[in-house]
Amino acid sequence: MSQLKPVSLAARDLLVDLAKAEHLQLISNAMTALLQERPEVWLPNPVPLDRVEKVVVPLDRVGTEQGFSGSRVFVAYFADRDCEVDPSSPFILKIGRFDKLTEEYGNAAAWPKVGDDHRFAKPFFIHATRASDHDGTAAAVMAAPFSSGKMFQYPSNWNFEHRDLWQMLKRTDEGSAALVRYLHSTYNVLRRVHCAGRTHYVRSGLNFAEEYKWYIRELDAAFRMIPVALFGSAAKTEAFGREWPNPLLLVDRILKLRTFTGAFGAVHGDLHPRNVVVDTDSLSYVIDFGWASANGHVVRDFALMDINVRAMALSAHLERSSVEEIARYLHPNDRQASSTDPRVTACQDVIRDGIWAKVNEWQVVQNWEVEYLIPLFLIGFGLLKYLETARNQSALQLTILALAERLEGSVQSLERS
Ligand SMILES: Nc1ncnc2c1ncn2[C@@H]1O[C@H](COP(=O)(O)OP(=O)(O)O)[C@@H](O)[C@H]1O
Ligand SMILES: [Mg+2]
Repeated sequence: MSQLKPVSLAARDLLVDLAKAEHLQLISNAMTALLQERPEVWLPNPVPLDRVEKVVVPLDRVGTEQGFSGSRVFVAYFADRDCEVDPSSPFILKIGRFDKLTEEYGNAAAWPKVGDDHRFAKPFFIHATRASDHDGTAAAVMAAPFSSGKMFQYPSNWNFEHRDLWQMLKRTDEGSAALVRYLHSTYNVLRRVHCAGRTHYVRSGLNFAEEYKWYIRELDAAFRMIPVALFGSAAKTEAFGREWPNPLLLVDRILKLRTFTGAFGAVHGDLHPRNVVVDTDSLSYVIDFGWASANGHVVRDFALMDINVRAMALSAHLERSSVEEIARYLHPNDRQASSTDPRVTACQDVIRDGIWAKVNEWQVVQNWEVEYLIPLFLIGFGLLKYLETARNQSALQLTILALAERLEGSVQSLERS
């Protein structure tokens, strides 16, 4: 194995744009350490060191984009230069800030283990650079199993095909059946974590500000500018040709509420369509444990997916009336007889059959408005930060407005109780 000098890298450089050579050196060092410390990554027998080839493939080469967290992701594996031994299984290498990645690694490790633990692509190795030791700005490289499509090609390499729910959602004109199947497969395995192996959800007194602060972070500071620019600061706001209650004021009121009772357990916290990848074996795998926590309102894992399906992934090329049909679809009974646009039907089917069916089947919530729609509203509101990346910006805004209108009464009764 070629000897490479450890590089000194501050994590802030990662956010700018790392020169390719530096990337590769950092990865090469981490892969050396990985093979030494965890030889089981290449079983049965790794080859002599001078024959080890480290193969590193950037994510865009396997057909997907980088995430939003500022980390960089590669697919990698070990191969035999002489092609006598099969390559190792491929794994994901995530390079990012030392403090962020160690937190993600710790969150994943603290997550309850379930029978189908392989369905969660938890990181299994982390390697810190020597740079600025432990001061929080050093870089690290983390490894997790590669969980999307892969195909072995003789003599000794892998071919990858990356697929996730996001890509499938962008093609809802192909219908909703496959998406619904993958969502069921995801929630079935997630439920065991939510319930910590019990048959039912544990309920407990919770507080919206505490449970949802991460999603609406910086509402006191930088982020407040966005909703103020969109909705103003008055009690009512004008949008899409009519008047609505101002969502910003409703968020402020919800954050002051005392407690509500909700399902409580281990929660992934960032379960959106790019964080569910699918393999060629038709199973879904959950990735990215940056926000995972051992305790929380488990509705987060349903509401974040819901708002992403209806707002972030929805096609931009829809009539306003179609967007409104989706934005106002807030309960299984809200379904209108038939929609003229099949993409509306597909989107509503995914939400109803893929997400709500599970919420109802397992009785995750007892009070729909309070336990499901308020979280949907808070998370959707927090996504305004990413409004520019929503494929259909009107869908995100209209859903938030429709929720504000619908929830005013419930919030008022909660304030009185
Ligand atoms: N275990 C994995 N298997 C397959 N693809 C993965 C895996 N981990 C990450 N990826 C790909 O890399 C992207 C970014 O990784 P992720 O851990 O979600 O980082 P971020 O925190 O930036 O969202 C994912 O959206 C996915 O496309
Ligand atoms: Mg991610």
